[in-house]
Amino acid sequence: MTTASTEIGQDTTKGLPAGPWWPAWWTTWKFLKDRKAIMPKLHERYGDTFSIKILPGPRTFVIFSDPADVKKIFAADPSQFHAGEGNTILEPVMGSHSLLITDDDEHKRSRKLLMPAFSGPTMKAYRPLVEAIAKAEVDSWEDGGTLVTLDRMNAITLDVILQVVFGVTDEKRLAVLRPKVTKMVNIGAGMLLAWSWPSLYRVPPWRGYFKNQQEVDEILYAEIRERREAHDLEGRADVLSRLLRAGSGGGSGPRAEEGTADPDVEPLSDEEMRDQLVTLLLAGHETTASALSWTLHELGRNPDLMKRAVEAADTGDDVFLDACLKEAMRVHPVIDFVARTLQSDQVVAGHALPRKVTVTPSIMLSHSREANFSDAHEYRPDRFLTQGEVAANTWIPFGGGVRRCIGAAFSLMEGAAVLGEVLRRYEVTADQPAPNRLRNITNVPSDKAPLRLRAR
Ligand code: HEM
Repeated sequence: MTTASTEIGQDTTKGLPAGPWWPAWWTTWKFLKDRKAIMPKLHERYGDTFSIKILPGPRTFVIFSDPADVKKIFAADPSQFHAGEGNTILEPVMGSHSLLITDDDEHKRSRKLLMPAFSGPTMKAYRPLVEAIAKAEVDSWEDGGTLVTLDRMNAITLDVILQVVFGVTDEKRLAVLRPKVTKMVNIGAGMLLAWSWPSLYRVPPWRGYFKNQQEVDEILYAEIRERREAHDLEGRADVLSRLLRAGSGGGSGPRAEEGTADPDVEPLSDEEMRDQLVTLLLAGHETTASALSWTLHELGRNPDLMKRAVEAADTGDDVFLDACLKEAMRVHPVIDFVARTLQSDQVVAGHALPRKVTVTPSIMLSHSREANFSDAHEYRPDRFLTQGEVAANTWIPFGGGVRRCIGAAFSLMEGAAVLGEVLRRYEVTADQPAPNRLRNITNVPSDKAPLRLRAR
């Protein structure tokens, strides 16, 4: 692909797709606060492809939900379709080397170094510790009690990041890290403000947040340095140890087994390692907790599905639990959309789009489009068990292409392991549907999805 205007869609060439006439500030407000309501209306009015203007700028976002278009965007040349550019607001906390923020060669190199630790076969090695963390949490629950599901799932997924990803298992260190990391991941709209105006970091409450972040960084740097020197590095299963091995040179041992022994790839420095660890924490913690909460909530509203899920947990059958998780991520997408910003004029799905336009496959609209999913609003995990029922590029909770979520297999493994531990011990019931709330960029159950627990 060249940097000149290049067709990645149909043959015809149209201009910018139509969209609402509203002023940018209004669209931005609606998009940030009320997109669950507004996006389906725009889809109904303008069809699968439409444009909206979003501040600052304003920038033009072109929204897509036809699977043929989504496929082309995911397969497009990443050097012309930048994904990292749209995430730079997260740079002050994730760091400039973050996989989420970088593009081009830097992204390619980091992704190559991180991928093996998130490959399918590696998941088996992480699972026992995930199960032990979930079991310890479930052990603390009481029969007949009410579970504040989102909080409890957040507690599990946080410990999974600390123990399975960072490899910190010493209870004293965990006790120091947990509250600091919890403070760090609680990023409200106010904190985003300071990322745009860093001078705010000198005054409360931003000063406290920044100090806390520095303390977490110091602990992470100490952990990285210590681990580099550790005698047992070769035998350790956690993600950080694997990343350190991935850059350790040598053509034998775990590095070669994991397929990363590429002498041309420069290993990650301490600073890069810190940025990737914080990225994994922020990208992998609340997202998975939210998906798990929605899954338990849906099962809690459907006794027949609950019965089947309990049987699946008892027999260790991950297939059904996996389908329950996938269907929850479809009906309640944790992230609503992904974005690629054009680096040159491009023709996308027959529309000639100028440089700097952001093309946006809509996860929310893809998942609720009747042409993609019959009875789209119904929670029906069986659709994932019927061969051919879920077509390619319609179920896209993890995005796609070279930027597809690196933690997709990890979160599904974690989800099945946690559901198994919960359902072997308890049946849950939800009294009413949980409303949705947008927390920064993730959708969570706004009432934290309370569930009644009944010991089995
Ligand atoms: C239900 C759980 C999760 C959901 C719904 C989710 C969703 C996503 C989405 C939509 C993207 C952007 C993809 C794109 O632009 O095409 C993404 C990227 C990413 N996710 Fe996840 N994620 C989840 C869990 C995780 C976990 C467990 C981790 C790691 C421990 C993780 C790490 C990342 C990273 C590092 C990226 C950036 C990838 C890149 O730009 O190359 N995510 N995720």
